[in-house]
Amino acid sequence: MRESSFSNQLAGLKLAAEESKKLSLNQLFEQDSERSNRFSFNLEGLHFDFSKTHINQKLLIEFERLADESGLLKQRNKLLAGGIVNPTEKRPALHADMRSYTPITADIESQRSDCYQYAERIREGEITPASGDRYRHIIHLGIGGSALGPQLLLDALAYSQNETTPAFDTHCIANIDGHALEPALQICDPNRTLVIIASKTFTTTETLSNANTIIDWIRANGVEKPYSQLVAVTASPDKAKAFGILEEHILTFPEGLGGRYSIWSSVSLAAMINIGTSKFESMRLGANKMDTHFAQTPIQENIPIIAAMLDIWYCNTWDAPTRAIFAYDSRLNTLVNYLQQLEMENNGKSVSSKGENIEWQSSPILWGGIGTDAQHAVFQLMHQGTHLTPVEFLAVIKAEHSFENHHKCLLANCFAQSAALMKGRTYDEAEALLDESIQSPEERDLLASSKTFSGNRPSTTILLDELSPELLGMLIAFYEHRSFVSGTLWQINVFDQMGVELGKELAKKYQRAIETGDTSSISSELDKSTERLLNLALK
Ligand code: F6P
Repeated sequence: MRESSFSNQLAGLKLAAEESKKLSLNQLFEQDSERSNRFSFNLEGLHFDFSKTHINQKLLIEFERLADESGLLKQRNKLLAGGIVNPTEKRPALHADMRSYTPITADIESQRSDCYQYAERIREGEITPASGDRYRHIIHLGIGGSALGPQLLLDALAYSQNETTPAFDTHCIANIDGHALEPALQICDPNRTLVIIASKTFTTTETLSNANTIIDWIRANGVEKPYSQLVAVTASPDKAKAFGILEEHILTFPEGLGGRYSIWSSVSLAAMINIGTSKFESMRLGANKMDTHFAQTPIQENIPIIAAMLDIWYCNTWDAPTRAIFAYDSRLNTLVNYLQQLEMENNGKSVSSKGENIEWQSSPILWGGIGTDAQHAVFQLMHQGTHLTPVEFLAVIKAEHSFENHHKCLLANCFAQSAALMKGRTYDEAEALLDESIQSPEERDLLASSKTFSGNRPSTTILLDELSPELLGMLIAFYEHRSFVSGTLWQINVFDQMGVELGKELAKKYQRAIETGDTSSISSELDKSTERLLNLALK
């Protein structure tokens, strides 16, 4: 196995792309009646259909070569063995260890057990606020990875809950914007609100400022000991203690678990309280199954590796700067936000893990939305725009609501979009559909041209048998490994996020200026545009 520059490794993929561009997706299907079986993969109740991309057998061989030349499998094994895969912070990345049944990292199991006990005791009403009533409301404070995971789980899984335990009215507040916080405080009863402060570092301005405001709100409403209603979830227990959180209300997780992977930890406490820890366990089991698949399956059948290589292929050799994800399930409303942080914080980098500038495009911009809403908003560009955008469709076969016809219509729309993107419509077909009453050749030409679809636009479809905790766990782990594979091939340190720091530093300085009404201490550092904006705000 030898490691060489990605630019050299890309040569084979470029050739494969040139070759592929000669045949449309429609032609690929005409040539091979087995295509859809050949390039679809099932793992338990998750189904991945890559056949509407330009994948082919030779490309899979090329992927194998790329994996070999890049040392991908060595890096994968290092990740899964808890080795240092984050060189700038000299840390492992422990997300797979968090769902292992034989974790290599000390404390993981006891931390999880503390968290499960806490969640179940809240559910059962054994832990109560000072009033002695049961908790009725939960406010989860956290931002980025400390918010997106629990929010995703609450949206995706709380709906299916069919249990006798009373539901908790739950609010996730991430932003420092008072417009986000105030409406929640208007709804919650300060005497019956549990406040979860989720912050890996316990230094994040938004989270701690929101926490301070809530402490004041609880106190102002007559609760003598507001800290008794606070629980911290963090990898920095000393900072939580210094903030005033009672020691027995601090739930920890390992430093080596990245914020955008912290869904697997006590950061998901609000979700565990709502859905129960047994469902969280099922999610962990699902993720563990995907870990095993990723660790043991040959490259040509390894689903996260194939998906990542296709991402690279389209991004680096087909010039597709973005990738779009559309989930045809409202319960996955926050999935795109979650994946945006995962992929773009992982791979939105221009320096290699050895500190050199990279000469190739890294992470495509991830965007998307919910079907069918998005069909009536952005799909115009997907079908007829000038950009090539590989699309990912997600849908759940078995719905949990009682409106069967709605679900049939939803699925039909999902499948119709991927078919339309691939098939397209020729000028002649469009012309033949025009009303005979339109006689003017110019008008017929204008309409036929406007109604022509190029087709040949690639998409992947991922179907879940149902939106169960287990399949959701598998799905999240799939995206984690996929992003790790592409970042590794781009030679990036997938696990740091230095790019978020500069803005934070400047915001602290500007905040002081806005608070004091005086920009003089920073005026020498200010550009004219920012100075003018600050002065406008100060007026
Ligand atoms: O600003 C980015 C970031 O560091 C994310 O990586 C992280 O998920 C988020 O902020 C929140 O950080 P913390 O959990 O330490 O409050």
